[in-house]
Amino acid sequence: MNLEQFRRDYLQGGLRRNDLPNDPFALFAGWQQQAIQSGLLDPTAMVVASVDAAGQPSQRIVLLKNVDEQGFVFYTNYASRKAQEIAANAKVALLFPWHVMERQVRVSGEATKVDAAESAHYFAVRPRESQLAAWASPQSTTIESRQVLLDKLAEVRGQFGDAEVPLPPLWGGYRVIPHEIEFWQGGGNRLHDRFCYRRQPDGNWLIVRLAP
Ligand SMILES: Cc1cc2nc3c(=O)[nH]c(=O)nc-3n(C[C@H](O)[C@H](O)[C@H](O)COP(=O)(O)O)c2cc1C
Repeated sequence: MNLEQFRRDYLQGGLRRNDLPNDPFALFAGWQQQAIQSGLLDPTAMVVASVDAAGQPSQRIVLLKNVDEQGFVFYTNYASRKAQEIAANAKVALLFPWHVMERQVRVSGEATKVDAAESAHYFAVRPRESQLAAWASPQSTTIESRQVLLDKLAEVRGQFGDAEVPLPPLWGGYRVIPHEIEFWQGGGNRLHDRFCYRRQPDGNWLIVRLAP
């Protein structure tokens, strides 16, 4: 398999300093909206990178469920590998791989748990089967077989019957509060445009252009 031939030029557009809003969340919202409209599969999918105690990074895809001036929210299991890593080191990075639009957004920041009320609010709108799965799956642990998971699912299904499925104690959201957000737009002949917003001590954002 020859992978060397796979390349293309990025010609969809450019980014100019004068077109950038002062607020990176405003730019992000526009790009997220365009990603949704582009027909991209899983347009809210993002990669979350965390680091373990030995400095070993690991990454996984999660779905962005909320974004506001505070940060980027995703939901997961609070005993998962990512959660254990975040508990010891809250520094994380996010990546939105919107390459059909010749774009990527990178975020560096710190993850904090969202409060239980916010998690419960989101949990309540999930499909019932997803709610039950959250109770049944000890995410990231070793299991003997798929049957173990199905048995556990049957158990929690029986436990809750027709009742509302409550928020599991080990399930909830993280909000990633960014100190840096980089917007990358592909350019012709590898002369891409990159702008990085860096949060300043006064809360304002400094915008710098980075070489591609
Ligand atoms: C498209 C896609 C969306 C996903 N969304 C989530 C999510 O929102 N939350 C989550 O915990 N895992 C999600 N996963 C699974 C994670 O990638 C990962 O397998 C899981 O969270 C366990 O990661 P960990 O062992 O590093 O904690 C998703 C996977 C894919 C491919």
